[in-house]
Amino acid sequence: MSLSAPPSAWTPDSWRERPVAQQPDWPDAAALDAALAELRSQPPLVFAGEARALQGQLAQVAAGEAFLLQGGDCAETFAAFSADGIRDKLKVLLQMAVVLTYGAQLPVVKVGRIAGQLAKPRSKPEETLDGVTLPVYRGDAVNGLAFDAEARVPDPARLVRAYHQSAATLNLLRAFTRGGFADLERVHQWNREFVAESAQGQRYAALADEITRALAFLRACGVAVDTDPTFHTVDFWTSHEALLLGYEEALTRQDSLTGTYYDCSAHMLWVGERTRDVDGAHVHFLSGVGNPVGVKIGPGAEPDEIAELAKRLNPDAVPGKLTLITRMGAERAPERLPDIVRGVRDLGLPVVWSCDPMHGNTYTVNGGTKTRHFTEVLSEIRTFFAVHAEEGTVPGGIHIELTGEDVTECLGGAQEIVDSHLGQRYETACDPRLNNRQSLELAFQVAEMLRGA
Ligand code: PEP
Ligand code: CO
Repeated sequence: MSLSAPPSAWTPDSWRERPVAQQPDWPDAAALDAALAELRSQPPLVFAGEARALQGQLAQVAAGEAFLLQGGDCAETFAAFSADGIRDKLKVLLQMAVVLTYGAQLPVVKVGRIAGQLAKPRSKPEETLDGVTLPVYRGDAVNGLAFDAEARVPDPARLVRAYHQSAATLNLLRAFTRGGFADLERVHQWNREFVAESAQGQRYAALADEITRALAFLRACGVAVDTDPTFHTVDFWTSHEALLLGYEEALTRQDSLTGTYYDCSAHMLWVGERTRDVDGAHVHFLSGVGNPVGVKIGPGAEPDEIAELAKRLNPDAVPGKLTLITRMGAERAPERLPDIVRGVRDLGLPVVWSCDPMHGNTYTVNGGTKTRHFTEVLSEIRTFFAVHAEEGTVPGGIHIELTGEDVTECLGGAQEIVDSHLGQRYETACDPRLNNRQSLELAFQVAEMLRGA
């Protein structure tokens, strides 16, 4: 097959003919084949119709009629998997969504980096500690985080475990979002413990009071608040980076209704900054699935390259199909973002513009601890809003690494976390996440920017 094969040549395994970056060196090919065969025999995690429904919501985002909130861990792990952890992540995302919905008077499309975010692209294939060099950690779907030769050997059984953990996570998310937890009447109960006592928590409580009063008002007016599902359930979608293409291929199914292939490992998939080569396997794979897809766009991307990516990933220019997730860094965003936004705008392509203010703002302190400063995260989002206002385009959403817990991984915010606090609760397996209070604080700030936009 030639590299410029037409889209009709796409099959779930045609990525195998392209150069593929960031794949593990699986030492046992037979074990890998067995794991992938097992995955092919498993049920899909999501349905094509759900992916289409999300794409419809993202089309509203592209048109400026809704806002996208995408967030979750940098890397989910087997060790941190728990019902409480999932609930707390959902809780902080629901709180943020309420703040954004109420503040900006716009529907919020809620997408978790969850139920499948278990593989990581890395800058270097190896790492050295105290004179010992080992293969790098590539996410729990591949190898172990512990700095130990045995743990770092890629083990295909982990792919199967990642699938089962994702299924269990999704099951719980479906129960929480349909079974009463996400009920707007419980808007106060998402604000508990350490969050409630903070300044952000108090601000949130005041907003929740207003929502409770608004619901009482609607009820008094005769609106069926108690029975209308709008007030009691939410749509919550899953997403992850489509990195391990064998895994993604094994969960790709042909939709019986439309004949289109869908990657049924998540509702939305994105291709990362390190794997978005236009002629590479990752872009090719995502060009053939019906799901809404995203691409990370770093400061080195050129407008022509992005136009080519958009052509391959959304050849029919369908609104909601393609999200461009810019991650320039606070410092470079003012210089890089305008050209990129203008280039895509002038092509007339209907993309969702989302801002990842995390991945361009990572640096190390204390001799090697990765962190990000809240001020820089906020600054990149401000630039994002300013550039889109200038260019007449829609600042569609944000893409955040966060956790529902009270970790100390990112600096700053109202809690004034400083370098010396990072050791208190630094738990991420990969990149530093905003904690629950920082996340809520961010939502209040973004709601204000949205009101101004
Ligand atoms: C990520 O989202 O965790 C990530 C690795 O991002 P990027 O591809 O933008 O570096
Ligand atoms: Co990350």
